[in-house]
Amino acid sequence: MHHFDYKGGRLHCEDVPLHEIADAAGTPVYVYSTATLRRHARVIAGAFEGMDCLIAYSVKANSNLAVLRTLASEGCGADVVSGGELRRALAAGIPAARIVFSGVGKTRDEMALALSHGIHQFNVESAAELAALSDVAVQMGKTAPVALRVNPDVAAGGHPNISTGKAGDKFGVPWGDAPGLYDRIKTLPGVEAVGVDVHIGSQIGDLGPMRAAFEKTIGLVKTLRGAGHDLTRIDLGGGLGIPYQDGDDPAPPSDYAQMIREVTEGLGLQVVLEPGRVIAGNAGVMIATALYHKPAPDRTFLIIDAGMNDLMRPALYQAHHDILALDQPTPETPMVSYDVVGPICESTDKFAATRMLPEIAPGARVAFMSAGAYGAVLASQYNTRPLVAEVLVDGDKFAMVRQRPSFEQIIELEKMPDWLD
Ligand code: LLP
Repeated sequence: MHHFDYKGGRLHCEDVPLHEIADAAGTPVYVYSTATLRRHARVIAGAFEGMDCLIAYSVKANSNLAVLRTLASEGCGADVVSGGELRRALAAGIPAARIVFSGVGKTRDEMALALSHGIHQFNVESAAELAALSDVAVQMGKTAPVALRVNPDVAAGGHPNISTGKAGDKFGVPWGDAPGLYDRIKTLPGVEAVGVDVHIGSQIGDLGPMRAAFEKTIGLVKTLRGAGHDLTRIDLGGGLGIPYQDGDDPAPPSDYAQMIREVTEGLGLQVVLEPGRVIAGNAGVMIATALYHKPAPDRTFLIIDAGMNDLMRPALYQAHHDILALDQPTPETPMVSYDVVGPICESTDKFAATRMLPEIAPGARVAFMSAGAYGAVLASQYNTRPLVAEVLVDGDKFAMVRQRPSFEQIIELEKMPDWLD
C-alpha cells in the first residue's frame, strides 16, 4: 500500500505531480510519501496493539532526518547501528529510552555516546564486545542494559547477501555459547542482562523460518530464566518482506504480529521489534530521466541519468524495482524490451535486463518504485556523481530534505599535500 498513483495521466506522490518535484530538484531524486510512512507505522503499531511492545524503526533502511522525525511523531523508537545513526535518531526527536543499539562492531566511543544518553538496550554480539562494554560502563559509572544477539542457525530464505541467522554468518553469538555468556554477564560489572535478541535476515516473506527462530529463542529465554537470569525483554529484530512486483505475496503485518503474539504469549516479556523495509520501502521512489537509446544487435539499452551509485539494490542483490513512466502510457504506447542502465563505468550498473516497458523516449522521466528502504542510504559519489537528493511530500506540499551537494562541497574535504602544491 502506498500513495504513488496516476492522476490525470501523471504520476503523483500524494497530491504532488512527480514532474513538479523533478523540475524543482533535478534528477535523480528520491521522493518519500509522508502518508505512506505514517500509514505503515500505524499498521505495524496497530497489529501489536495491547502488547507491551517497542517498535524501534531500523534507521539503516532510511535515515533521512525528516523521515525519522515523521516516524518519531508516530511514536516509533529506533534501532541504530552506529554513533552516526544514534545522533540522527536523537536529532530527529526519538527519545534515548526508545533506542536500541545493534551491530557487530560497536567502538568504545560509540558505546560511551550511547551510555551517556541512557539508551534502552545494547544488542551485544560477542564476548569481546561484552567485555569492552563492561569496561566502558564501569569507567562512566553506568550500567549497560544488554540483550545478547544469538545466532539461531536458521536459514531465512531469500537472497543470501541479506541472510544473517545461519551458523556461518558473522552475526550473533554461536547458539551453544549463549548460556555461558549470560553467566559471564552476572559476574561482570557495568552490564546487566535484560533480554535476548535475534534477527535472521531481511525481505522475508514466509513466516516459517521466523517462527522457528523465535520459538528456539523463546526456549532459550525459558532456560535462562530457569538458571536464574531475570530476563524481561525479547528483541525479535526486523526482516518482514514487502511486495516489489505483482505476484510477490509476503506475509502481511497482521499475520506476523499474530505469530509473535502466539510465540510470546504468557511470558510477560516486552517485545522489541526493529522493522525497517516494511515501513520505508514502499514509501519512496527514485525518479530518473532517460538520456539515450542505444540499440545493440540483440537488445536495446535505455541509458538513464541515475546509476548504481544512486540505487545499489539491483547491482548488489539482483533486486527488482518496477519502473513506471511519469507520463502514463496509453493503450497505444508500444511495448519495448529494454536493458535499463546507468552512466557508471561498471557492467553491474544495470537496473533491469530485457524488461518489457511501454516505450520510453529520451527526455522522459521514470520512477523506480519501492525504493524508500536501502535506496538513498546506500548511495555513494562514485564517479564523482553528487550524492542523490531527497524530497519529502506531505499532501500537496513538498520539501527538499537533502540537497544535492555542489562540486565544491564534494571536494572540500580533499586537500593537496604541500609537496604537490
Ligand atoms: N535489525 C537488524 C539487526 C538488521 O540487521 C536489520 C537489517 C534490520 C533490523 C531491519 O531489517 P528490515 O526490517 O529492513 O528487513 N540492504 C539490503 C537489506 C539489508 C538489511 C540489513 N539489516 C537490501 O537492500 O535488501
